[in-house]
Amino acid sequence: MIILAVDTSCDETSAAIVDGVRVLSNVVSSQVRYHKKFGGVVPFLAQRLHKERIDSVVELAISRAGCTRRDIQALAVTYGPGLAPALQVGISHMQALAAELTVPLYGINHMVGHLASCLAQVGKRSVPVEVFPALGVLVSGGHSEFVVIPKIGQYHIVGETLDDALGEAYDKVAKMLGLGYPGGKLVSHLAKTGNKDRFTLPIPMRYSKDCNLSYSGLKNAVRLLIDSEQTSGSLSATTIADICATFEEVAQASLLIKLERALREHEVKSLLVAGGVAANTVLRGKVRRIAKAFGVSVLFPAAPRLCGDNAAMIGVAASLEIAAGKQPIEVDMLDRVPGLRIDEGSFV
Ligand code: KG4
Ligand code: ZN
Repeated sequence: MIILAVDTSCDETSAAIVDGVRVLSNVVSSQVRYHKKFGGVVPFLAQRLHKERIDSVVELAISRAGCTRRDIQALAVTYGPGLAPALQVGISHMQALAAELTVPLYGINHMVGHLASCLAQVGKRSVPVEVFPALGVLVSGGHSEFVVIPKIGQYHIVGETLDDALGEAYDKVAKMLGLGYPGGKLVSHLAKTGNKDRFTLPIPMRYSKDCNLSYSGLKNAVRLLIDSEQTSGSLSATTIADICATFEEVAQASLLIKLERALREHEVKSLLVAGGVAANTVLRGKVRRIAKAFGVSVLFPAAPRLCGDNAAMIGVAASLEIAAGKQPIEVDMLDRVPGLRIDEGSFV
């Protein structure tokens, strides 16, 4: 089934064409340079930019896939979680298109989309047959959660952050160090050259007997460390790199301790590791080692563009969920749900 998918949940205007789980096109128009000077995403600026770009992004996705509008058999759009004004742009656009093309419209949970990005087929890569039950490890700018997925359409959160998400912690540390936004890539790049043993930071939630996470305490510990290092003048490049390395080490250690616990508590065949932070190669290596020790396979999004927000993952999620029995929504009934949880997307 040829699906046109759209995601405008945050600061990327994205449209894609998929045929089942095969990605035919995936256009992502980033707004990052506009939000950068504010140190984070400004919702109404995001809305205005989505409105300006959505028509051309959708047309480009259709033409890059070598399709015409007549080839489109269904529409899929993110309805949450995300920024309300931003989500609205994609929803309104797809509602109008559904009426025009008279094809079914599916509302897709953005976090199910991130999980589905691990199952997307791009180029020659094919996905193993035995994926489920799977454990989803969602690490993005807004979410950090472990999700048990017995099969597509059933999503159970078994652990989640009590405050900040992992990507958000990276962004805040980058901001405190004056590195810029978004911070994940910048911090992880500097961490490669830093000494992770020069400073000591506490591993969050190390002793909590659950699979939950928490990153706000670590963020404050980094703030105190920066303050104490700054008493003797501005931070040297070496000190900044060492702080990045220490932060990355303990932030990831916390996630990995809880990942091991989740794997002990839940029998799964595979790990689906997704979200912006899944682009982190150091994290990928550590997750691969744990997966090997537990005898489970591990799937990451096949391309960097599938890690960050994109519409291909929404199209692939729609394909998988439609195959599992998801029903289209009555066009006028589709509404944004900014705080949508992944378990609210369960339908079987
Ligand atoms: O999934 P995503 O694109 O957007 C949300 O839905 O939140 O994730 C963005 C997050 C940002 O916080 C960004 O700093 C982080 O992913 N990120 C990284 C890396 N690349 C992006 N964090 C750590 N290491 C990276 N290489
Ligand atoms: Zn996302």
